[in-house]
Amino acid sequence: MQKLSARLKDLKASPVRAMLEASIRPDVISFAGGLPSEDSFFKFDAASAFSSAMQYGPSEGERELRELIANELKVRNLDCDASQILILSGSQQGIDLVAKMVIDRGTTIAVESPTYLAALQVFRFFGAQFEELPENINDIAWSKSNHPPLAYVIPTFQNPTGKCWSKDERAAFAKTCVDNDVILFEDDPYRDLAYDECERTPVAAFMKNGSWVYQGSFSKILSPGLRIGYIAASKDLFPHLLLLKQAADLHTNRLSQYLVMNYLKSPLRGEHIKNLIENYKQKRDNFALLMKKNLGNMASWDAPEGGLFFWVKLPENTNMQNIFEKAKERNVLFTPGGHFFANSESAYPSMRLNFSHASMESADRGLTIIGELLRENQ
Ligand SMILES: Cc1ncc(COP(=O)(O)O)c(C=O)c1O
Repeated sequence: MQKLSARLKDLKASPVRAMLEASIRPDVISFAGGLPSEDSFFKFDAASAFSSAMQYGPSEGERELRELIANELKVRNLDCDASQILILSGSQQGIDLVAKMVIDRGTTIAVESPTYLAALQVFRFFGAQFEELPENINDIAWSKSNHPPLAYVIPTFQNPTGKCWSKDERAAFAKTCVDNDVILFEDDPYRDLAYDECERTPVAAFMKNGSWVYQGSFSKILSPGLRIGYIAASKDLFPHLLLLKQAADLHTNRLSQYLVMNYLKSPLRGEHIKNLIENYKQKRDNFALLMKKNLGNMASWDAPEGGLFFWVKLPENTNMQNIFEKAKERNVLFTPGGHFFANSESAYPSMRLNFSHASMESADRGLTIIGELLRENQ
């Protein structure tokens, strides 16, 4: 037997990625992943990018792309310089780098309950334990001598719940982190997908002299296949993240970086994002109607103000595993809610449904099947 690292025993397959192959089969209706709709993809003119993208590049990322992103962040009130921006191979890489920076075996970090399952997967791999944040920020009981080193949060259109924090909550959370020397790790991949008016100023913008990492992604507005995300970090943390990035993959794919630059400078960008939001807003509204028709009073949910998911709460007696298996037999996929909880005792019967990918007709068929299975469960 080979001797492999002890860490491997904490590495579990992501349930969503395990379903990805099945979810792209044309006969399958998938509410499982966070796949953007293919008809939303921007049409690139890629030829100009090829010649300059062939050589090794800087670990930080392309200078011009970092400047473009720093300018975008200024508009969001997050005042940082291009030298604080690190281009990532997808924002999933940011989770890996931050975990490597902070977590030793047994380190306790704070997370929302529920939270993004693929972040939990990474944190667990490095041996993290979890403190679940209370719903009400005022109930957080940290002190200078007793606090986690890091809090990972998704304040805008949270995955999986779709929740968006108010301005007061953002300011209060930032203050709590600064007062107690907790590193804020804010993950913000859905912010541009806003269908209703709501507060979206990054919590990191309220951090003053604290330590923070803010990350964004081009996956949900442009294309997940390009694998481009970025980190902005306070000056004390940036050098560590840069060295970790170097050790991980030297630098992010340059061709993808050029395509994203091309997009950010394109005069068609405004129109593209406007159409995307209109299209998804319509999909959200249609999905809400179909949920009402098919799930009726067997489940409860709030229509999300942005993002890509409905978070559905189900009655206590729901046999989630049974419903998941039976739905899968009928070619309908969803993500059972239990995967999103750091500590299994906090989990309750629930599911996350993606509304951006399936057509309205497929969504109706899929939700009809889920409705039938819930009725059988009653
Ligand atoms: C909260 C959150 N963070 C990070 C990611 C990773 O995104 P990407 O690596 O495609 O930028 C996702 C993807 O679904 C997500 O939902």
